Amino acid sequence: MQIKTLIVPGLIALASSTAFGFSNGAPVMRTGAEVDGGLDCTACHRTFAPANSDPRGKLWITTLADYKPGVKQTVKVQIQHPEANRWGYQLTARLASNPARKAGTFTAVANVTRVQCAGGAPEGNCGDNLEFAEQTQPASFAGQGGGASWEIEWTPPAAGSGDVIFYFAGNAANNSNSNAGDYIYTRSAKIGEDGACNLTDTPRITGLQNGASFWPGPVSFNSIVAVFGTGFQRAGGTSNGGEYLNDQTFPKKAGCVAVEVNGTRAPIAYAQFNQINAQLPTNTPQTGSTQVRVIANPGQTNERRSDPFTIQVASAAPGFFRLLPTPCIAAIKVDTGEISGDPSLLDFAKPSKAGDVVSLFATGLGATDPIWQAGEIAEGPSRAAGNITLEFNGQPVDRANILYIGLVPGAISGLYQINMRIPNSNIRPNAHNELRIRIGTDILSPEGSTLYIAPN
Ligand code: HEC
Repeated sequence: MQIKTLIVPGLIALASSTAFGFSNGAPVMRTGAEVDGGLDCTACHRTFAPANSDPRGKLWITTLADYKPGVKQTVKVQIQHPEANRWGYQLTARLASNPARKAGTFTAVANVTRVQCAGGAPEGNCGDNLEFAEQTQPASFAGQGGGASWEIEWTPPAAGSGDVIFYFAGNAANNSNSNAGDYIYTRSAKIGEDGACNLTDTPRITGLQNGASFWPGPVSFNSIVAVFGTGFQRAGGTSNGGEYLNDQTFPKKAGCVAVEVNGTRAPIAYAQFNQINAQLPTNTPQTGSTQVRVIANPGQTNERRSDPFTIQVASAAPGFFRLLPTPCIAAIKVDTGEISGDPSLLDFAKPSKAGDVVSLFATGLGATDPIWQAGEIAEGPSRAAGNITLEFNGQPVDRANILYIGLVPGAISGLYQINMRIPNSNIRPNAHNELRIRIGTDILSPEGSTLYIAPN
């Protein structure tokens, strides 16, 4: 399971030449795309550089799940920031198979959308040159608080073009008519081509396990699971759901496969030939059993459905992510940001000791407050709602040492984080200390996940 952070480090670079009204559209090639040299608006708007440095703001796009070749659609760019009151963006569309090439065309709309071209081509008429859609001066919404959104007309490329990547940057500005004091964000997102899936095998499910502990017992709604089997992708093919975020939500199809749980599509985090990591839908039953299918080429005439696979479900089914193949729980030392673990097993890890605060990662901890739908990004602290205790070597950890149990802000809503101060009592130095999660009285995470404690 890849825990993908959404914060991408930006680049600080010197401004380039061309001078014109920037609130009326920035110079081209400033979305942060590596293929364009990696520059973004922080080349000039440097106060809070690098891009994405302020987690209070966010930038995202909404499109159709798949584009229809040649059929015009809207791409909506949205930005929010609690302090900003003027806004701007730049958006470019490229072929995923060759990001140096444009994918489709944007339409300029008077007073709303400018379309600037690379290579000196006239504005709004780029020909084969790269295109960059941007806000016009009136569409910078001077004085408007909270956020802004723009609907950009985009005509996708011809059939057979495959996945498209949008690279985009946004400016949450302070309406100073200058390049100072503005927050810059950059992102990218892929979309697929409608009707282009051609997986040839019929998928077959052989197992479904907690995606953190790989325990084969029951699994619970909103938790991350690993589905095992065959025919999920072409040999060697992989697909990363986090690259297809649309409207801040993980996709219900990635790499041409979908997972259906009790008839509901599950958001997909990752897919390869023999494994899919998915998040169980929020409406998954909480007792008894239910059925899962994997569907290749979903929704197309060449759709192929696996036989149903029966799983046991529960109201919670906790498990820690581990640094496999070791028993070490995936943990970060909060004061230094280092990975906590046994350095004799993991040369990059540092041992923790009593008094250290660690963040531990898990899934399956049940309902949260607020609750997020499966596939959504938790936008802020969201505490686990159940009665959860931790047990170190079989003894409960004092409540005062448990600082937070809930979702990881900014991550998929099935990823939980526990912030704990390592207690002085019930731990053994220079040893692996078993840690378990108890929910209510009866639900326990599996044995064998440990926190290594440093020698005295
Ligand atoms: C080459 C330097 C440069 C780059 C790169 C640049 N800007 Fe600017 N920007 C400026 C300057 C100078 C101003 C102030 C003059 C003006 O408002 O036109 C400005 C002003 C703005 C404003 C109004 C700010 C306010 O507080 O009133 C917005 C919005 C804006 N830019 C958006 C962007 C976006 C979005 C990008 C990246 C895609 C970007 N700019 C990249 C130089 C730049």
